[in-house]
Amino acid sequence: MRHLIDIQDLTVEEIGALLGLAGQIIARPADFRDAASRKKLATLFYEPSTRTRLSFEAAMLDLGGNVLGFASADNSSVSKGESVADTIRMVQCYADIIAMRHPKEGAPVVAARHAAVPVINAGDGGHNHPTQTLTDLTTIHREFGHLDNLTIGLCGDLKFGRTVHSLVIAMCRYPGTHFVLISPQELCPPDYVTERICNSPGCTFEQVRSMDDVMPELDVLYMTRVQKERFFNEADYLRLRDSFILDAPKMAAAKREMIVMHPLPRVNEISVRVDDDPRARYFQQALYGKYIRMALIMKLLNGFD
Ligand code: NCD
Repeated sequence: MRHLIDIQDLTVEEIGALLGLAGQIIARPADFRDAASRKKLATLFYEPSTRTRLSFEAAMLDLGGNVLGFASADNSSVSKGESVADTIRMVQCYADIIAMRHPKEGAPVVAARHAAVPVINAGDGGHNHPTQTLTDLTTIHREFGHLDNLTIGLCGDLKFGRTVHSLVIAMCRYPGTHFVLISPQELCPPDYVTERICNSPGCTFEQVRSMDDVMPELDVLYMTRVQKERFFNEADYLRLRDSFILDAPKMAAAKREMIVMHPLPRVNEISVRVDDDPRARYFQQALYGKYIRMALIMKLLNGFD
Protein backbone atom coordinates (compact mmCIF):
# COMPACT_ATOMS: atom_id res chain seq x y z
CA MET A 1 0.00 0.00 0.00
CA ARG A 2 1.25 3.47 -0.93
CA HIS A 3 0.69 6.95 0.50
CA LEU A 4 1.52 10.35 -1.00
CA ILE A 5 2.94 12.50 1.79
CA ASP A 6 5.86 14.13 -0.03
CA ILE A 7 6.31 14.56 -3.79
CA GLN A 8 9.50 12.50 -3.41
CA ASP A 9 7.37 9.49 -2.50
CA LEU A 10 6.90 9.22 -6.28
CA THR A 11 9.73 8.32 -8.64
CA VAL A 12 10.24 10.31 -11.83
CA GLU A 13 8.87 7.27 -13.71
CA GLU A 14 5.76 7.19 -11.53
CA ILE A 15 5.19 10.90 -12.10
CA GLY A 16 5.53 10.22 -15.82
CA ALA A 17 2.95 7.42 -15.53
CA LEU A 18 0.55 9.75 -13.68
CA LEU A 19 0.94 12.44 -16.34
CA GLY A 20 0.32 9.83 -19.03
CA LEU A 21 -2.81 8.54 -17.30
CA ALA A 22 -4.10 12.10 -16.76
CA GLY A 23 -3.60 12.67 -20.50
CA GLN A 24 -5.71 9.59 -21.28
CA ILE A 25 -8.43 10.78 -18.90
CA ILE A 26 -8.45 14.23 -20.52
CA ALA A 27 -8.72 12.65 -23.98
CA ARG A 28 -11.41 10.05 -23.10
CA PRO A 29 -13.07 10.88 -19.75
CA ALA A 30 -16.00 8.51 -20.38
CA ASP A 31 -13.62 5.51 -20.32
CA PHE A 32 -12.89 6.23 -16.65
CA ARG A 33 -16.33 6.91 -15.25
CA ASP A 34 -16.47 3.58 -13.39
CA ALA A 35 -12.78 3.34 -12.52
CA ALA A 36 -13.43 3.80 -8.79
CA SER A 37 -17.03 2.67 -8.58
CA ARG A 38 -18.12 1.56 -5.10
CA LYS A 39 -14.97 3.13 -3.61
CA LYS A 40 -15.09 5.97 -1.10
CA LEU A 41 -12.73 8.91 -0.66
CA ALA A 42 -12.67 10.67 2.72
CA THR A 43 -11.62 14.33 2.60
CA LEU A 44 -10.44 15.44 6.04
CA PHE A 45 -9.80 19.17 5.84
CA TYR A 46 -8.61 20.75 9.09
CA GLU A 47 -7.72 23.95 7.21
CA PRO A 48 -9.62 26.07 4.66
CA SER A 49 -9.62 24.93 1.05
CA THR A 50 -11.69 25.44 -2.06
CA ARG A 51 -9.85 24.03 -5.07
CA THR A 52 -8.01 21.18 -3.44
CA ARG A 53 -11.00 19.73 -1.63
CA LEU A 54 -13.46 20.28 -4.45
CA SER A 55 -11.07 18.94 -7.09
CA PHE A 56 -10.48 15.80 -4.99
CA GLU A 57 -14.22 15.36 -4.63
CA ALA A 58 -14.92 16.05 -8.31
CA ALA A 59 -12.11 13.63 -9.24
CA MET A 60 -13.61 10.84 -7.16
CA LEU A 61 -17.13 11.50 -8.45
CA ASP A 62 -15.89 11.50 -12.07
CA LEU A 63 -14.33 8.09 -11.40
CA GLY A 64 -17.71 6.80 -10.26
CA GLY A 65 -16.75 6.79 -6.59
CA ASN A 66 -18.26 8.49 -3.57
CA VAL A 67 -16.98 11.05 -1.11
CA LEU A 68 -17.46 11.77 2.56
CA GLY A 69 -15.61 13.96 5.04
CA PHE A 70 -15.44 17.34 6.68
CA ALA A 71 -14.41 20.77 5.43
CA SER A 72 -13.52 22.27 8.78
CA ALA A 73 -12.14 20.93 12.05
CA ASP A 74 -14.82 22.93 13.89
CA ASN A 75 -17.63 20.64 12.82
CA SER A 76 -15.82 17.34 13.47
CA SER A 77 -14.77 15.57 16.66
CA VAL A 78 -11.43 17.35 16.39
CA SER A 79 -13.17 20.23 18.16
CA LYS A 80 -13.77 17.79 21.06
CA GLY A 81 -10.05 17.09 21.23
CA GLU A 82 -9.73 13.90 19.16
CA SER A 83 -6.19 13.14 17.94
CA VAL A 84 -5.27 12.72 14.26
CA ALA A 85 -4.34 9.09 15.00
CA ASP A 86 -7.75 8.28 16.45
CA THR A 87 -9.61 10.11 13.68
CA ILE A 88 -7.70 8.11 11.07
CA ARG A 89 -8.26 4.77 12.82
CA MET A 90 -11.97 5.50 12.63
CA VAL A 91 -12.13 6.99 9.11
CA GLN A 92 -10.30 4.03 7.56
CA CYS A 93 -13.28 1.88 8.63
CA TYR A 94 -15.49 3.97 6.35
CA ALA A 95 -13.30 4.94 3.38
CA ASP A 96 -10.91 3.30 0.89
CA ILE A 97 -8.62 6.31 0.53
CA ILE A 98 -8.07 9.51 2.54
CA ALA A 99 -7.06 13.04 1.48
CA MET A 100 -6.06 15.19 4.43
CA ARG A 101 -5.13 18.85 4.91
CA HIS A 102 -3.79 19.95 8.26
CA PRO A 103 -2.22 23.14 9.66
CA LYS A 104 0.54 21.14 11.42
CA GLU A 105 3.57 20.13 9.41
CA GLY A 106 3.97 16.37 9.49
CA ALA A 107 0.35 15.59 10.48
CA PRO A 108 -0.16 13.46 7.34
CA VAL A 109 2.87 11.34 8.33
CA VAL A 110 1.15 10.55 11.62
CA ALA A 111 -2.04 9.79 9.69
CA ALA A 112 -0.24 7.42 7.30
CA ARG A 113 1.34 5.57 10.23
CA HIS A 114 -2.10 4.71 11.58
CA ALA A 115 -3.89 4.09 8.30
CA ALA A 116 -4.62 0.80 6.59
CA VAL A 117 -5.73 2.72 3.47
CA PRO A 118 -3.74 5.19 1.30
CA VAL A 119 -3.33 8.69 2.75
CA ILE A 120 -2.77 11.71 0.52
CA ASN A 121 -1.28 14.90 1.94
CA ALA A 122 -3.48 17.73 0.67
CA GLY A 123 -1.24 20.35 2.31
CA ASP A 124 0.49 20.34 5.72
CA GLY A 125 1.15 23.75 7.23
CA GLY A 126 3.87 25.70 5.45
CA HIS A 127 5.61 22.46 4.48
CA ASN A 128 4.41 20.46 1.47
CA HIS A 129 1.58 20.18 -1.03
CA PRO A 130 2.38 17.27 -3.34
CA THR A 131 -0.93 17.13 -5.23
CA GLN A 132 -0.65 20.81 -6.09
CA THR A 133 2.78 19.95 -7.45
CA LEU A 134 1.31 17.17 -9.58
CA THR A 135 -1.18 19.77 -10.84
CA ASP A 136 1.68 22.17 -11.59
CA LEU A 137 3.74 19.49 -13.36
CA THR A 138 0.70 18.54 -15.46
CA THR A 139 0.26 22.17 -16.51
CA ILE A 140 3.94 22.63 -17.39
CA HIS A 141 4.17 19.28 -19.18
CA ARG A 142 1.05 19.85 -21.27
CA GLU A 143 2.34 23.27 -22.23
CA PHE A 144 5.94 22.47 -23.11
CA GLY A 145 5.83 18.71 -23.71
CA HIS A 146 8.75 18.21 -21.31
CA LEU A 147 9.78 19.11 -17.77
CA ASP A 148 13.53 19.55 -18.21
CA ASN A 149 15.56 22.58 -19.36
CA LEU A 150 13.07 25.23 -18.26
CA THR A 151 13.61 28.54 -16.46
CA ILE A 152 11.03 28.88 -13.72
CA GLY A 153 10.43 32.11 -11.83
CA LEU A 154 8.80 31.64 -8.42
CA CYS A 155 7.50 34.89 -7.03
CA GLY A 156 5.99 36.00 -3.73
CA ASP A 157 5.96 34.11 -0.46
CA LEU A 158 8.66 31.51 -0.99
CA LYS A 159 9.11 31.06 2.77
CA PHE A 160 5.66 29.92 3.83
CA GLY A 161 4.31 28.86 0.42
CA ARG A 162 4.14 25.07 0.63
CA THR A 163 3.32 24.76 -3.06
CA VAL A 164 6.65 26.42 -3.85
CA HIS A 165 8.61 24.03 -1.64
CA SER A 166 7.09 20.93 -3.21
CA LEU A 167 7.41 22.28 -6.75
CA VAL A 168 11.09 23.16 -6.36
CA ILE A 169 11.88 19.76 -4.84
CA ALA A 170 10.04 18.09 -7.73
CA MET A 171 11.64 20.17 -10.49
CA CYS A 172 15.13 19.52 -9.07
CA ARG A 173 14.81 16.02 -10.54
CA TYR A 174 14.55 17.41 -14.09
CA PRO A 175 17.98 18.45 -15.40
CA GLY A 176 18.54 21.90 -16.77
CA THR A 177 15.98 23.56 -14.49
CA HIS A 178 16.97 27.10 -13.63
CA PHE A 179 15.04 28.62 -10.72
CA VAL A 180 14.64 32.37 -10.40
CA LEU A 181 13.56 33.00 -6.81
CA ILE A 182 11.80 36.36 -6.61
CA SER A 183 10.89 37.45 -3.08
CA PRO A 184 11.56 40.02 -0.39
CA GLN A 185 14.47 39.08 1.90
CA GLU A 186 11.99 38.11 4.66
CA LEU A 187 10.16 35.66 2.41
CA CYS A 188 13.12 33.73 0.95
CA PRO A 189 12.71 29.95 0.70
CA PRO A 190 13.86 27.80 3.64
CA ASP A 191 17.47 26.61 3.46
CA TYR A 192 16.49 23.01 2.82
CA VAL A 193 14.87 24.09 -0.45
CA THR A 194 17.84 26.07 -1.80
CA GLU A 195 20.24 23.37 -0.56
CA ARG A 196 18.30 20.85 -2.60
CA ILE A 197 18.83 22.93 -5.74
CA CYS A 198 22.57 23.16 -4.97
CA ASN A 199 22.72 19.38 -4.57
CA SER A 200 20.86 18.65 -7.81
CA PRO A 201 23.25 18.20 -10.73
CA GLY A 202 22.23 20.32 -13.69
CA CYS A 203 19.96 22.64 -11.67
CA THR A 204 20.80 26.22 -10.78
CA PHE A 205 19.15 29.20 -9.10
CA GLU A 206 19.39 32.92 -8.64
CA GLN A 207 17.68 35.04 -5.98
CA VAL A 208 16.36 38.48 -6.92
CA ARG A 209 14.29 41.18 -5.25
CA SER A 210 12.57 42.57 -8.35
CA MET A 211 10.60 41.00 -11.19
CA ASP A 212 11.49 43.54 -13.86
CA ASP A 213 14.96 42.38 -14.88
CA VAL A 214 14.17 38.67 -14.97
CA MET A 215 10.84 38.66 -16.84
CA PRO A 216 12.38 38.22 -20.33
CA GLU A 217 14.26 35.01 -19.36
CA LEU A 218 11.33 33.06 -17.86
CA ASP A 219 9.50 30.11 -19.43
CA VAL A 220 7.17 29.85 -16.44
CA LEU A 221 6.22 32.50 -13.90
CA TYR A 222 4.72 30.92 -10.78
CA MET A 223 3.04 33.61 -8.71
CA THR A 224 2.04 33.00 -5.09
CA ARG A 225 -0.05 34.65 -2.40
CA VAL A 226 1.63 35.99 0.74
CA GLN A 227 0.48 33.41 3.30
CA LYS A 228 -1.27 35.62 5.83
CA GLU A 229 -2.24 32.73 8.12
CA ARG A 230 1.40 31.75 8.71
CA PHE A 231 2.62 35.17 9.86
CA PHE A 232 3.29 35.81 13.52
CA ASN A 233 2.26 39.46 13.38
CA GLU A 234 -0.10 41.42 11.20
CA ALA A 235 2.22 44.39 10.70
CA ASP A 236 4.73 42.21 8.83
CA TYR A 237 1.97 40.78 6.67
CA LEU A 238 0.63 44.22 5.80
CA ARG A 239 4.13 45.44 4.95
CA LEU A 240 4.91 42.48 2.69
CA ARG A 241 1.59 41.50 1.14
CA ASP A 242 1.84 43.70 -1.94
CA SER A 243 5.56 43.19 -2.57
CA PHE A 244 4.89 41.89 -6.08
CA ILE A 245 1.96 42.56 -8.34
CA LEU A 246 1.96 41.13 -11.84
CA ASP A 247 0.34 43.55 -14.26
CA ALA A 248 0.12 44.19 -17.99
CA PRO A 249 3.31 46.33 -18.23
CA LYS A 250 5.31 43.55 -16.54
CA MET A 251 3.79 40.97 -18.89
CA ALA A 252 4.91 43.10 -21.84
CA ALA A 253 8.53 42.29 -20.95
CA ALA A 254 7.97 38.51 -20.93
CA LYS A 255 8.40 35.97 -23.74
CA ARG A 256 5.38 35.37 -25.95
CA GLU A 257 5.40 31.70 -24.99
CA MET A 258 5.92 32.19 -21.24
CA ILE A 259 3.07 30.90 -19.07
CA VAL A 260 1.78 32.41 -15.81
CA MET A 261 0.76 29.94 -13.12
CA HIS A 262 -0.68 30.40 -9.63
CA PRO A 263 -1.92 27.69 -7.24
CA LEU A 264 -4.77 30.08 -6.27
CA PRO A 265 -6.41 31.66 -4.35
CA ARG A 266 -5.18 34.95 -5.75
CA VAL A 267 -5.42 37.99 -3.52
CA ASN A 268 -3.71 40.99 -5.08
CA GLU A 269 -0.60 39.56 -6.69
CA ILE A 270 -1.97 39.22 -10.23
CA SER A 271 -3.95 42.09 -11.70
CA VAL A 272 -7.29 40.85 -13.07
CA ARG A 273 -6.30 42.43 -16.38
CA VAL A 274 -3.71 39.68 -16.80
CA ASP A 275 -6.55 37.10 -16.84
CA ASP A 276 -7.26 37.94 -20.48
CA ASP A 277 -3.62 37.56 -21.50
CA PRO A 278 -3.29 34.31 -23.51
CA ARG A 279 -0.30 33.39 -21.34
CA ALA A 280 -2.40 33.23 -18.14
CA ARG A 281 -2.82 29.54 -17.22
CA TYR A 282 -4.02 29.59 -13.59
CA PHE A 283 -7.63 28.62 -14.21
CA GLN A 284 -6.61 25.91 -16.69
CA GLN A 285 -4.16 24.75 -14.01
CA ALA A 286 -7.08 24.33 -11.56
CA LEU A 287 -8.86 22.14 -14.12
CA TYR A 288 -5.77 19.96 -14.59
CA GLY A 289 -5.83 19.53 -10.80
CA LYS A 290 -8.96 17.42 -11.12
CA TYR A 291 -7.55 15.17 -13.86
CA ILE A 292 -4.24 14.48 -12.16
CA ARG A 293 -6.05 13.72 -8.89
CA MET A 294 -8.21 11.23 -10.81
CA ALA A 295 -5.01 9.59 -12.04
CA LEU A 296 -3.52 9.60 -8.53
CA ILE A 297 -6.60 8.07 -6.91
CA MET A 298 -6.62 5.30 -9.54
CA LYS A 299 -2.94 4.51 -9.04
CA LEU A 300 -3.18 4.52 -5.24
CA LEU A 301 -6.24 2.29 -5.28
CA ASN A 302 -4.98 -0.13 -7.94
CA GLY A 303 -1.17 0.01 -7.73
CA PHE A 304 1.40 1.79 -9.87
CA ASP A 305 2.40 -1.05 -12.20
C1 NCD B 1 -2.46 26.69 -1.99
C2 NCD B 1 -2.32 26.09 -0.58
O1 NCD B 1 -3.32 25.75 0.04
O2 NCD B 1 -1.19 25.95 -0.18
N1 NCD B 1 -3.76 26.59 -2.49
C3 NCD B 1 -4.13 25.45 -3.14
O3 NCD B 1 -4.10 24.37 -2.60
N2 NCD B 1 -4.46 25.57 -4.44
C4 NCD B 1 -1.91 28.06 -2.11
C5 NCD B 1 -2.38 29.11 -1.16
O4 NCD B 1 -3.23 28.89 -0.30
O5 NCD B 1 -1.88 30.23 -1.30
